[in-house]
Amino acid sequence: MHVHRLEKIWIGFGLAMLLVFLLLTGVAAFAFGVNPANSHSSHEHGEHQVTKVVPTQLKTTAPFDMPGLRQIGEGEYEAVVIALAFGYNPDPIEVPRGAKVHFTVTSQDVVHGFEIPGTNVNFMAVPGEVTRMTHTFSEAGDYLVLCNEYCGTGHEAMKMTIKVV
Ligand code: CUA
Repeated sequence: MHVHRLEKIWIGFGLAMLLVFLLLTGVAAFAFGVNPANSHSSHEHGEHQVTKVVPTQLKTTAPFDMPGLRQIGEGEYEAVVIALAFGYNPDPIEVPRGAKVHFTVTSQDVVHGFEIPGTNVNFMAVPGEVTRMTHTFSEAGDYLVLCNEYCGTGHEAMKMTIKVV
């Protein structure tokens, strides 16, 4: 009878621990499931903010349903760019000299780079993430955007042109 009672206690203890474990993981899942949107909007600090997108649904997700350049103010533009193996959409883009360009970039497949040599623009285009960065093109000329993250066989040739006229 003593052994039987001890087993009952241990089974009860095991069940209680299981319940605690399930409760904790449930709370954790709830917290992580609810928080990302909030924590990301609070990360907006001026030039570099990040939000989430579903890489397979870019065609129906604004602003990536219409990649391209649009004027948003006096000498101010937003360039919505999708990086893909192995190029950028759109390519090329053309802006007037002095244009302040807000890049809004994501990748539709794997991690790519987005580097404009000679400027401070250098970030990763990550599937699922939106990366924003602003640059003012004060001198005319052709600027290259280069992929500096190895992304496959076409990596070396992956580039786009920004014509500043
Ligand atoms: Cu894309 Cu390297």
